[in-house]
Amino acid sequence: MSEVKILAIESSCDETAAAVVADGRRVLSNIIYSQIDLHTIYGGVVPEIASRKHIEKINPVIEAALEESGCTLSDIDAVAVTYGPGLVGPLLVGVAEAKAIAFAAGLPLIGVHHIHGHICANYLENPELKPPFMSLVVSGGHTHLVNVSDYGTYEVLGRTRDDAAGEAFDKVARAIGLGYPGGPKIDAAAKRGDPEAIEFPKAKVGDSEYDFSFSGLKSAVLNYLNHAEMKGESVNPDDLAASFQKAVVDVLCEHAQTAVREYKVKDFALAGGVASNSALRKSMKEMCEKENVRFYCPSPVFCTDNAAMIGVAAYHEYIRGNFANWSLNAIPNLKM
Ligand code: KG4
Ligand code: ZN
Repeated sequence: MSEVKILAIESSCDETAAAVVADGRRVLSNIIYSQIDLHTIYGGVVPEIASRKHIEKINPVIEAALEESGCTLSDIDAVAVTYGPGLVGPLLVGVAEAKAIAFAAGLPLIGVHHIHGHICANYLENPELKPPFMSLVVSGGHTHLVNVSDYGTYEVLGRTRDDAAGEAFDKVARAIGLGYPGGPKIDAAAKRGDPEAIEFPKAKVGDSEYDFSFSGLKSAVLNYLNHAEMKGESVNPDDLAASFQKAVVDVLCEHAQTAVREYKVKDFALAGGVASNSALRKSMKEMCEKENVRFYCPSPVFCTDNAAMIGVAAYHEYIRGNFANWSLNAIPNLKM
């Protein structure tokens, strides 16, 4: 059988992205137009601005993805698109675009869950990685600890009760004046700071050992800043960034370690935008080495939002014959 080539589209937040992926492993092209600069002045993503930029950029981004892959639509076997979770306006742009292309080219349509895409990013650079494995997805909107029992089959063990890990990074970065997007800025500042300078609480959730909670930690950072200001004391932002980052990384690693032991995991895959955090990658790798577990993590470009990961997840739906019909719609709060 010749290779299955999927044209994938991702527009759930502030990246307009398209990719062509062969057989769910080989990236033929991966084009990302990041809108970050547009949203920076507002301190976060403005949904209407994001939607408007997606509609402007989506055709050129798809054209570039086809051109770079050396494919025309006649070489493509299916069109895939993220249909949730995410921002409704941005999702609708991608879904409408994918439908129009699939309809005009007579191709099957595949709706992809954004979080499945993040997990599947791990297949791209690791041909040896196969289910079953455990995955921790840490992104701007989600924190999920998941057992991947087969391709396309996911069992959620734990999730955040409040803020996602990336959201905590973004909010704390804003509070210490580092700006948006907070994750990479805190990552950089933390390299200059002392992670032991301030002891922040490691939020645990009582009734489920695999659930997460980051809003308490975020409040602790804000309280620390307020107290310092009231007492007229200066705060070293690098120390604060490093100490906050350590609190997040420690709790993620502790939960993952407990789960890895409990489920006798052999392979562990980190995923999502926060997986590009240097301290998290290092600590998770060390934890896995200690537990005799093989550790996987995509290159940073496949951790943050991209369409290649959507093309991988779509391939497994394609193999299972799981196609969408023309009623496919955006589902902003799509559950795992
Ligand atoms: O997966 P993603 O691109 O979008 C969502 O699906 O949400 O994740 C974006 C999140 C943002 O919160 C961003 O601050 C965070 O990932 N992030 C990081 C780093 N790079 C991106 N967080 C910590 N350290 C980083 N280096
Ligand atoms: Zn994402």
